[in-house]
Amino acid sequence: MTNIGRRAFVASALATSVATFALRRTAKAADSRIEIVLDEPIGSISPHIYSHFVEHLGGVVYDGIWVGEKSKIPNYNGVRKALVDSLKALKPGVIRYPGGCFADQYDWRDGVGPRDRRPTRVNFWADTRYKTTKAYEDLQDGPQKYESNHFGTDEFVAFCKMVGAEPYLAANVRSRDVRVFLEWLEYCNAPANLTTLSTERVKNGFRDPHKVSFWGVGNESWGCGGDFTPEEYATEFRKFTAWLPTYGLPLKLIGSGPNGGDLAWTRRFFQGLAEKGQRQIAKLYGWGLHYYCGSTGQQIANDFTPNEWYDLLERSNRMESLIEDHWRVMGEFDRERRVKLVVDEWGAWHKQDPDVPPGYLYAYAGTLRDALISAMNLDTFQRHADKVAMANPAQLVNTIHSLFHTYEDKFILTPNYHVFEMYMAHAGATALRTEFIAPKVSFTRLDAQRKEITAGLWGLNGSASLKDKQLVLTVVNPHHKEVRETEIAIRGATIKAGESRTLTANDLHARNSFANPHALEPQNAPVNASGSSMLYQFAPASVTRLTFTLG
Ligand code: AHR
Repeated sequence: MTNIGRRAFVASALATSVATFALRRTAKAADSRIEIVLDEPIGSISPHIYSHFVEHLGGVVYDGIWVGEKSKIPNYNGVRKALVDSLKALKPGVIRYPGGCFADQYDWRDGVGPRDRRPTRVNFWADTRYKTTKAYEDLQDGPQKYESNHFGTDEFVAFCKMVGAEPYLAANVRSRDVRVFLEWLEYCNAPANLTTLSTERVKNGFRDPHKVSFWGVGNESWGCGGDFTPEEYATEFRKFTAWLPTYGLPLKLIGSGPNGGDLAWTRRFFQGLAEKGQRQIAKLYGWGLHYYCGSTGQQIANDFTPNEWYDLLERSNRMESLIEDHWRVMGEFDRERRVKLVVDEWGAWHKQDPDVPPGYLYAYAGTLRDALISAMNLDTFQRHADKVAMANPAQLVNTIHSLFHTYEDKFILTPNYHVFEMYMAHAGATALRTEFIAPKVSFTRLDAQRKEITAGLWGLNGSASLKDKQLVLTVVNPHHKEVRETEIAIRGATIKAGESRTLTANDLHARNSFANPHALEPQNAPVNASGSSMLYQFAPASVTRLTFTLG
């Protein structure tokens, strides 16, 4: 929320004449207010905010995406058909690949050429310190443990084309040198038959260059990507990005940014780049930011109390301050604000569902709580449309904050999918300053000493955008049982027609499963709206999209 005088705002809200409202339901007094300020644009909402992430981890690639050309599961050239059809409908911006931590132990050459000749390797995730869960100890031999490399660069780029997304590849900084990165770039982007590697690509069935413009320089270089100090990583970044061939395609280079709130990583990296002059900073398109809420291996996704519901929502809400804080530090070095934030890993991370096979590391279908977390994050990115160029939840399918859950021929959409479907209406629109006033939610949580303390979260929040005459407002009501009776005021226009789409359930733990795939889905309803303000009841524990046609 911006810093306008809150008292003055509330007073003006209450002074507004009730006679101007078009009431949706009963004429109960509003306890909350939303004001959309049409003449205060924030920036254009990048369609890349609705991007995704695919890593060779658990059941993400093998089974989730790649079922193989000879599979009985319907597929397009080996890629699961149901996934392609559903993902395409979301108009995904960019897909990041092949990791994650996997990327810094990967050699792209293993994943090209005839499939039966590709080498088999131990997957990064099968033998790391992350091997902490019982499920993973039980991991059986298979593609999740022994990487067959049947899905590599060409299959990934073909998958991106099928769904209409741009590819984003992460280069290996920890265990391969600059030359391997240059060769991958050449294989992907050099014109057909002009170099040995582009000739190899043509032989592999891809005459046209893959046109990969997004390249990550390592992943989590502060951790699994090399355990570098920020100064060391700045040196690696400069080395990996010095005098790169472009093959006529401007490259968009993304630096391996901080772990959550580590501002020192951001400051010291930018300082390290700046030592060689401002030109080094200008090489960066984006600065990666990773933030997960939830705690690895602690609790399964659908086991929580109302206090734990709020606890996780509140921790997810930290995304707002992370964006603001890192943006401020970046501005100390990048005065022209050329570098944007790329939140290329975000989401809620729970324990693996005990019902899924051991190899499907961190897989679960997610609940209504995860849907609210998706909505809160997307609203945050939209509110910061001037700062966030791309965002990718971790990960697309079968792990962590996924949009899809699969097992062999079974396939479902998770609640996160439905939120993406609802929110894509904002893509390419102009984000507008929007004020939310609502009673704060209070709850209890345990502090570091395991002492019970009281904590709080806002009572309503969201974002609004305008494209042509269409105004879209998305709102989260986190209260687990209270309706928020809200006056919505649109400053500077009148409403002609409206429609709502809401995702909610009576049970906070609601989710979709293979047995009940449609248990949690959004519902549409007409909104009887006219004039420049109206009353609306936001259901408890809900994500709502209101779409208005302006006069
Ligand atoms: O998304 C799972 C893992 O989380 C990624 O591989 C890594 O980058 C992060 O720590």
